[in-house]
Amino acid sequence: MTTKQKLITYRYNSGRENMLKKIHQSLAVWLIRKVQKYGPHKVRVNGKTYLISEDVFNPKYYCTSSFMANNIKVNSDDTVLDMGTGSGIQAITAGQHASKVVAVDINPEAVRFARKNVRSNSLEKVVTVLDGDLFEPLDRGLNFNVIIFTPPYMSGERITVFDHALFDPDKGLLRRFFTGAKDFIKTDGNIQMLYSSIAHPEEALKISRDIGWKDTLISEEKTFSESFLIYNLTLD
Ligand SMILES: C[S@@+](CC[C@H](N)C(=O)[O-])C[C@H]1O[C@@H](n2cnc3c(N)ncnc32)[C@H](O)[C@@H]1O
Repeated sequence: MTTKQKLITYRYNSGRENMLKKIHQSLAVWLIRKVQKYGPHKVRVNGKTYLISEDVFNPKYYCTSSFMANNIKVNSDDTVLDMGTGSGIQAITAGQHASKVVAVDINPEAVRFARKNVRSNSLEKVVTVLDGDLFEPLDRGLNFNVIIFTPPYMSGERITVFDHALFDPDKGLLRRFFTGAKDFIKTDGNIQMLYSSIAHPEEALKISRDIGWKDTLISEEKTFSESFLIYNLTLD
């Protein structure tokens, strides 16, 4: 094959791959919206009960939440930040082991339900839930051993409040997250972040590396249409 033919084949394959990823993303968004609307709003995950509403990411049916929760690594004296807490599942899971957890969400409905779930799981002395955009509601000077993040990763326009759980157009949120996290992580701390094969994880990692984070893949779960990936990131 000549170099020109190789280039044409490469462009054809990567164009096809991008198209397939777009189709998978559209299917995932369709499925999540149906689950939000018609799925139960009281669910059990890993032996704990979570109340949600149609506007709060359901922690049961899309597997990302339980996959992350099953892979969280915290020590008993750790302070933990759960960024984008949704139902509160990661904060509550971490709160069973860590000394202190702060959870943040930009969706006021998620904050309301996460607070309810923290109370019903008797963790109000350990877990505090704050309302706001990324690190904005945190006091300067706070720093954490672990930051957990299960971000939105589909490309699409945010119209409703729930869309914050789905879309990160141009990975702008991810860029702001990795920049801000540098000010709130302890020197030997780490980020535990979930991402997906259908959302160009290589681009997400390029963003984090450019900002100064070093990544290791710690777990992967394959489904019929996508692979969920959990990365551990530390400052380079
Ligand atoms: C995919 S959901 C994950 C929810 C939960 N952590 C879980 O594992 O089930 C992403 C969450 O991030 C929140 N989020 C999106 N943008 C945010 C921002 N700028 N600041 C804080 N939270 C944000 C969304 O509202 C949503 O609850």
